[in-house]
Amino acid sequence: MSTFDAAPIALIVHAHPEPHSFSTAQMTTAARTLGEAGYRVDVLDLYADGWAPILDRHEFLPVDGPFKPQAEQMRAVREGTLDAAVRAHLDRLLAADLLVLSFPMWWFSLPAILKGWIDRVFVMGTVFGGDHGLFDDAALAGRRAMLLLTTGGPSESFQSGGAFGPMDDFLFHIHRGMLEFVGYHVLEPVVTYGPARMTDQERTAALEAVSESVALVAAAARPSVH
Ligand SMILES: Cc1cc2nc3c(=O)[nH]c(=O)nc-3n(C[C@H](O)[C@H](O)[C@H](O)COP(=O)(O)O)c2cc1C
Repeated sequence: MSTFDAAPIALIVHAHPEPHSFSTAQMTTAARTLGEAGYRVDVLDLYADGWAPILDRHEFLPVDGPFKPQAEQMRAVREGTLDAAVRAHLDRLLAADLLVLSFPMWWFSLPAILKGWIDRVFVMGTVFGGDHGLFDDAALAGRRAMLLLTTGGPSESFQSGGAFGPMDDFLFHIHRGMLEFVGYHVLEPVVTYGPARMTDQERTAALEAVSESVALVAAAARPSVH
């Protein structure tokens, strides 16, 4: 747990299958920048760690009758029987002042492995529900979260009137439905558009831009007491 006396903790949850991808370089850049700004940085690399994204009945004790996932999450919290991998990731989440979700945009959303991390680790009865409410009453109220992503499409396509429409519209379900839902204050996303078409020089400049954006976040984000 951090206090004003301790270094704030940033948890970066990264979801890209290729260590040499731009997304992974972007994540590494963000981690380095946060570290230089005084954060203790914890990186969870879901593909590298072989994270199992599917929430199903086998991670819970056997049930009599129909399997109700959120009821079983609440029971597992009450009885101390949460799956060990989920418990370990949840503890890292609860320790973090700043959560960064790092991913390539897939189908205008999160890669499935990261969606499955939310499914399993945003456990009802811990980050929301049970003794906690939703949004400002949820357990992570006072902490910050941001998205760090790449796209295939160019930035013009994500403007109002562009081929796809505004980026904020696509990110709304993550910002509001996942992050604010459990209490986070959501920061401006850091987006690199179309890294696949960049020259080496453009790629270097894009990583510098990421570092500058993350440095601003690090300077603005004050750790909460929890
Ligand atoms: C399954 C899949 C779905 C994708 N969906 C989108 C999409 O909805 N919008 C978009 O702009 N790019 C999409 N892309 C392209 C990726 O976002 C793009 O290749 C990636 O962000 C580039 O970063 P990288 O080189 O680090 O992988 C998709 C790629 C894959 C593999």
